[in-house]
Amino acid sequence: MASRGNAANRVALASILLAFCGAGFGIPTPTPWPEQFHALLFQNSSGKLSTIDLWYDFPNGRNFNIIHHQLGSTLYDLEWTNGTSFYYDLDAGSCKTMHFPVGILSPDWLVSNSTYIGVEKVGGFTCNVWSKADGFIVYYEDVETKRPVHWLFFTGMSQYVMTFEPGKVLEDEAWQAPWYCFDREENESFQENGGDLKVPSELWSVLKHTTLLDMAERSRM
Ligand SMILES: *[C@@H]1O[C@H](CO)[C@@H](O)[C@H](O)[C@H]1NC(C)=O
Ligand SMILES: *[C@@H]1O[C@H](CO)[C@@H](O)[C@H](O)[C@H]1NC(C)=O
Ligand SMILES: *[C@@H]1O[C@H](CO)[C@@H](O)[C@H](O)[C@H]1NC(C)=O
Repeated sequence: MASRGNAANRVALASILLAFCGAGFGIPTPTPWPEQFHALLFQNSSGKLSTIDLWYDFPNGRNFNIIHHQLGSTLYDLEWTNGTSFYYDLDAGSCKTMHFPVGILSPDWLVSNSTYIGVEKVGGFTCNVWSKADGFIVYYEDVETKRPVHWLFFTGMSQYVMTFEPGKVLEDEAWQAPWYCFDREENESFQENGGDLKVPSELWSVLKHTTLLDMAERSRM
């Protein structure tokens, strides 16, 4: 009996040590995203304000940013994991189709190769902070709930998570791009990587989207 108890104790001690070492001596790792979620984001891009409905849907290979400019138009930014992206404005009847060499982000995109920065307070939430790809993105996650709170791109574009609903899915019909997206041959392709920025390949699509959205925001000034 006594020896069995000792063995159990040793196993318990070993697993505590393993858990401790596995966590990199206490350095927190980012929580992977749920495979599907809806979030309402508040965005500030060089002083241009928007709210964004973000629908992340990894199993179905799709991601949607529906961008409502303050007192202005709505831009639909629909990304498929086969590399095709549609940017359209239903009121203006305009659409731009893009092709990216990579698909949408995987739920654990932040986990590998991110650098832990420390704990910071954002909007009243105590957050763990990581950066990825030399500050291409800085990411803030609530220490207690592990929910994303805020992220900031190197361009200065910043987004705050206002609501976060894991498991929420947008119905299929809403993912249909309008007919005039399929009507034109003026499509653009992106084959290049992040250029001088040396952005890892899994972040290329984010780089492109961020840059494009930033340009779109700036052209509205
Ligand atoms: C938006 O960002 C700009 C800096 O680019 C800052 O001056 C301004 O206060 C911000 N506005 C809001 C509402 O956060
Ligand atoms: C990618 O998938 C979307 C949605 O099914 C489709 O509209 C688009 O044509 C596809 N792109 C390519 C290059 O096959
Ligand atoms: C992490 O970074 C290294 C060095 O840049 C790279 O070789 C590796 O593929 C990256 N891992 C992932 C999962 O991105």
